[in-house]
Amino acid sequence: MATDRLVMTRPDDWHLHVRDGEALSDVLGATGRCFARAIVMPNLKPPVTTVARAAAYRDRILAAMPAEAAFEPLMTLYLTDNTTPDEIRRAAECEFVHAVKYYPAGATTNSDSGVTDLARAMPALEAMQEVDLPLLLHGEVTDGEIDVFDREAVFIERHLDRLVRDLPELRMVLEHVTTSDAVDFVSAAPDRVAATVTVHHLMLNRNALFDGGLRPHHYCLPLIKRERHRRALVEAATSGSPKFFLGTDSAPHPKGAKESDCGCAGVFSAPNAIELYAEVFEATGRLDRLEGFASHHGPDFYRLPRNRGTITLTRSPWSVPEELPFADSTIVPLRAGGRVAWRLED
Ligand code: DOR
Ligand code: ZN
Repeated sequence: MATDRLVMTRPDDWHLHVRDGEALSDVLGATGRCFARAIVMPNLKPPVTTVARAAAYRDRILAAMPAEAAFEPLMTLYLTDNTTPDEIRRAAECEFVHAVKYYPAGATTNSDSGVTDLARAMPALEAMQEVDLPLLLHGEVTDGEIDVFDREAVFIERHLDRLVRDLPELRMVLEHVTTSDAVDFVSAAPDRVAATVTVHHLMLNRNALFDGGLRPHHYCLPLIKRERHRRALVEAATSGSPKFFLGTDSAPHPKGAKESDCGCAGVFSAPNAIELYAEVFEATGRLDRLEGFASHHGPDFYRLPRNRGTITLTRSPWSVPEELPFADSTIVPLRAGGRVAWRLED
């Protein structure tokens, strides 16, 4: 018989964009209502390349957070060609930096300062291995010759396989996996290699980009892929394997920046993420595995304690707003105007 109520350990979001400035306070509440902690992406302008910048950004996040939310931002540094081993050591010594993010230069939003060649980042990567600071990978090549739908698979083949071998102790998370190639690679890799899975990549295949017309709110990077890849992601996320855990990649952009002739990549899923993950898990008959994926595997990988509190989801359908406030604009959340089966109790 189907459950109508699910109580589980409070989850964390292991991949999140909250932006900066005025936008911060508009989006933080959507995360804080559900997640106790989140790995905060460093792709600001300018990027969060140092511990000092991470400390200042963390202070701005805490100041913008609603007072009642006991939310802990887990900060990351943005890896560049010039990140020094000293900066990595400072990051490992501070209490609040938990990982370093690799963006290939030019791959996505604010990635211009990203790494141009992994060989240049080797001194920093070796230092990370030494101090045991995890590497978070935006796993796509930027080579214009490679089809945009193949860029994750080619990254694995050209770079990741070698990285895992060359740095035999470095912990790595292949972020927002989108293909069966990524699932197969991570599953076969040593335990120190894990992956986050977004809810939009679990829910949608690439038809959703062109459903009766061009759908800019489903445009994100890496792109959503074919149905067979979506199925492989669902299988991995609901498998119970500790290598796969929740990372929404909720990435807010103002409505006008998405609905444009050169629209930004990013899906804003924070307002209904856990509810939509619950739908996906329920559809496979594995709702009982949501807690592991959302609340246990992430902290275990990051070597942080699991949360002590709980959340309650009830089967109580509600309608997602068409738009939400976002700085001096609005933002269109995932499944805007649609119905969601599960509701998060206060
Ligand atoms: O869709 C995406 N949006 N993918 C990324 O890698 C970056 C993110 C953003 O910051 O907007
Ligand atoms: Zn991201």
